Amino acid sequence: MFLEVEGVSKSYDNGRVRALDGAGFAVAEGQFVSVIGPSGAGKTTLVRILNGSEQCDAGSVVLAGQRLDQARGRAKRSMQKRLGTIYQDFALVENVSALANVLTAAVPDMGFFPAALGLFGPDRRDRARRLLDRVGLADKADTPVQDLSGGQKQRVAIARALMRSPALLLADEPVASLDPVTGRQILELLKDIQRAEGLTVVMNSHNLDFARAFSDRLIGLNAGRVVYDGAADTPDEALTAVYAAAPEAAP
Ligand SMILES: Nc1ncnc2c1ncn2[C@@H]1O[C@H](COP(=O)(O)OP(=O)(O)O)[C@@H](O)[C@H]1O
Ligand SMILES: [Mg+2]
Repeated sequence: MFLEVEGVSKSYDNGRVRALDGAGFAVAEGQFVSVIGPSGAGKTTLVRILNGSEQCDAGSVVLAGQRLDQARGRAKRSMQKRLGTIYQDFALVENVSALANVLTAAVPDMGFFPAALGLFGPDRRDRARRLLDRVGLADKADTPVQDLSGGQKQRVAIARALMRSPALLLADEPVASLDPVTGRQILELLKDIQRAEGLTVVMNSHNLDFARAFSDRLIGLNAGRVVYDGAADTPDEALTAVYAAAPEAAP
């Protein structure tokens, strides 16, 4: 399998909060999977472990045959090049242009001085412009992000995530800050790119309708455990355990 998550646990506050509790699942290359579950189920923690910004306490994450959870230094950075993440709040630099935001994705591949001086070169600039065109923002390349709408900002974030040709795209509630119509447009774009590029997508969503509409498969988290793993078009009854009230965390 392309992505293999096994027995992943993560606690916070000296073990008082169990964000993930032995979560496991596997994702085939090219799949669009949505991780669903109520607030606090552990969805964001899972994405942070998958993109290497957080370490798990136990378990393993294998991406394309390599242990991501144990990678350090250069090995970790080289695996992270194969990952792109988009976020609910876009995580863009507001006072610079859309193009400059997309170009920041190239910084880890550059030497210190060219990066510090913003010397991206024509190839990277061309690629960034093509990606902005791909997400429908060809005419906004030079517009400061703060002057863009929420939907346009998420398009910039998608272009930035694609800049390094990721094999795995992670999305943490990518449309939760957008109105439903804009949110649907963003997910349609994401789905279109996923199909065209053969990208693997793992998306967190508390919006079950969107998760159903755009995913090949659902993974249901409740209190840090996988309680559903199966078809996206399953009847609501099959998802009862996902939305069951979680027992209160021990004080
Ligand atoms: N940095 C942190 N410090 C302490 N507790 C955290 C931290 N991050 C997440 N948690 C807790 O872990 C649990 C899972 O959180 P999270 O992964 O954000 O869930 P979700 O994204 O599904 O809402 C929650 O109880 C949350 O309060
Ligand atoms: Mg979250």
